[in-house]
Amino acid sequence: MLNFLIFGPPGSGKGTQSVKLAEKFNLAHLSTGDMLRAEIAAETELGRKVSSIMAKGELVPDEVVIEMIAGKIDRAENVAGFLFDGFPRTVEQTVALEKMLNDRKMKIDSMLVLDVEHDELVKRLVGRAELSGRPDDKDTVVIENRIAVYRGKTEPIISYCRERGIYQPVNGMGSIEEIFDRLSVHVSRLAN
Ligand code: AP5
Repeated sequence: MLNFLIFGPPGSGKGTQSVKLAEKFNLAHLSTGDMLRAEIAAETELGRKVSSIMAKGELVPDEVVIEMIAGKIDRAENVAGFLFDGFPRTVEQTVALEKMLNDRKMKIDSMLVLDVEHDELVKRLVGRAELSGRPDDKDTVVIENRIAVYRGKTEPIISYCRERGIYQPVNGMGSIEEIFDRLSVHVSRLAN
């Protein structure tokens, strides 16, 4: 099994690229953002608990997402590995993921980090607001907060992964296909 983190700030293209990579390399795409939005749409107790946190662009508690991910790993069948999108988002989540994988005789094989300029992130998210209906896309103050939360709480994971030799920066500027080709080179290298 090959396990990748697809990493980068809000709007860097993690979700867009994950769908394509999962299809090409037969990976299970695990997006904590999508899982949380599904809880909100289904009006579950968890959904009600997290909706205001997400609307402000803050992070939901670590234990919530860790539990969700563990369940998904155990239910995946006939895949070549996992693509973690938007998880982990704190060093604590990273340590928990390593333990989860280690307990199942797996590890994080690579962290693919999409580098995108700040103005381009904001442009992409503002551009998506109409279509996505996501409350956290509608307000530029919230968009800026999401980026700031990424810089403060999520980016430290890069140093953690760099020390483990799995950090792989990827230029996230350009067309969706150009970026997909760059990412595919790295995934293919590990898959072969
Ligand atoms: P999440 O759903 O993970 O959102 P995010 O990190 O803010 O990321 P986005 O989905 O906005 O961006 P993306 O990088 O996936 O880019 P995308 O491909 O969509 O999280 C949402 C919230 O849930 C968090 O704020 C938090 O509250 C909570 N949460 C989730 N996980 C959590 C965790 N682990 N711990 C705690 N809380 C958690 O692209 C964006 C737009 O750009 C799209 O319109 C796309 O079409 C366009 N686009 C993509 N690539 C290009 C390109 N190359 N050129 C032009 N446009 C492009």
